[in-house]
Amino acid sequence: MAIVAITSSPQKNANTEFVVKTIAKSAEENGKEVVYFDINSMANRKGCQACDACKKNGGKCITKDDLAPLIDAVKDSEGVIISSPVYFGEACGQYRLFEDRLYRFFGVAPEDSIAPGKKVAVVTAAGSGGADELADKMCGHLVSFFKFEPVGKIAMITGNDRKYAEKNEEIIAQAKAIGKKF
Ligand SMILES: Cc1cc2nc3c(=O)[nH]c(=O)nc-3n(C[C@H](O)[C@H](O)[C@H](O)COP(=O)(O)O)c2cc1C
Repeated sequence: MAIVAITSSPQKNANTEFVVKTIAKSAEENGKEVVYFDINSMANRKGCQACDACKKNGGKCITKDDLAPLIDAVKDSEGVIISSPVYFGEACGQYRLFEDRLYRFFGVAPEDSIAPGKKVAVVTAAGSGGADELADKMCGHLVSFFKFEPVGKIAMITGNDRKYAEKNEEIIAQAKAIGKKF
């Protein structure tokens, strides 16, 4: 089983991506396998269509797009690293598409859903405020709905400096420590 590292910011090599990759590399150094998904790079991505087909066919989603392998990978994973910038006080649209697609795991048999006890680390970044609240919200969804176990949170106020995290030794150390918890 692999750890699924998810980036969603449209800013390449900026704060959330840098921290997710630092956590992931630390986990890899600890012998873990990591698979990477960058939602913003997916050309074909759809939101949940609310068709409820998943409720009739054992939790399978009939929407076949670039997000489908990511949702499958989360089900098969050992844990996930989730991330989003704060956009208008919320997760960015790219991340929200991912969250809604987890709907396929609601109201289905336990073996068709996400097994409880998977680990989750969360990374958020805001220009001026709301990173901590968003991180708690994103992580809280996975904990309350799917019984993930939190292993770490990094919520940054970046002042819109794309390289804020890269220049911050404390954040880098925190990220490496979280990677070791997987
Ligand atoms: C569409 C958009 C909306 C944003 N909304 C907020 C916001 O509500 N609050 C805030 O503090 N920063 C906001 N920002 C700034 C980003 O959260 C900030 O630049 C963050 O560091 C980006 O993360 P990244 O470096 O991983 O891309 C917004 C930026 C954009 C492009």
